[in-house]
Amino acid sequence: MTGKNIIPHDLTISKKDRNKLLGNRSFVIWFTGLSGSGKSTLANETEKILNKKGYLTYILDGDNIRGGLNSNLTFSEEDRKENIRRIGEVAKLMVDAGIIVITAFISPFREDRDKVRNLLGEDEFIEVYLNTPVEKCEERDVKGLYKKVREGEIKDFTGINSPYEIPENPEVIIDTAENTAEESVNVLLNKIEPILKKV
Ligand code: ADX
Repeated sequence: MTGKNIIPHDLTISKKDRNKLLGNRSFVIWFTGLSGSGKSTLANETEKILNKKGYLTYILDGDNIRGGLNSNLTFSEEDRKENIRRIGEVAKLMVDAGIIVITAFISPFREDRDKVRNLLGEDEFIEVYLNTPVEKCEERDVKGLYKKVREGEIKDFTGINSPYEIPENPEVIIDTAENTAEESVNVLLNKIEPILKKV
């Protein structure tokens, strides 16, 4: 709901100015995939490399954000949508601030991911799909959550009893079951090479 008495203010300094100041373009690297598919790991590895190369980055990660900004949200369909809507808006603000944003959310619904894509400009939304099969995620079970799901302790768990909609046209698909974290990050870095260029 947008209040009819809200009048946006015209600001003098733009994203372009901030990009010029930092010397590079800003955009979002949006990891999506099941719990345990490797989103947080790859987000962290990607950030380490970009930071070393001199880029200002920031990670928005599901488990962290759900402890703060989105601590009032559950895993119902409605709340997952709200989770992604807020993250999309935050990511947009950060891109406007000149930062390369890396997000790690299951973001199970195509419509919600596409809404974030549409909030951003061309080449500002790099969707990275981690296609790790649910069997592999469950085998890893890093957080012990799949076990809890099987024991009936967690309901509506993505990939088991809550849906995950596979991206139709992601910029990058990473097979984390076949590739090491380093190989996976290299696939991504090669893809974003053209937009990493300095401005
Ligand atoms: S999303 O679906 O709304 O995008 P998000 O990425 O923020 O999910 O949070 C997912 C993380 O919350 C998982 O990695 C897992 O650690 C934890 N989690 C707890 N309950 C669930 C659940 N029912 N479904 C999926 N993830 C859950």
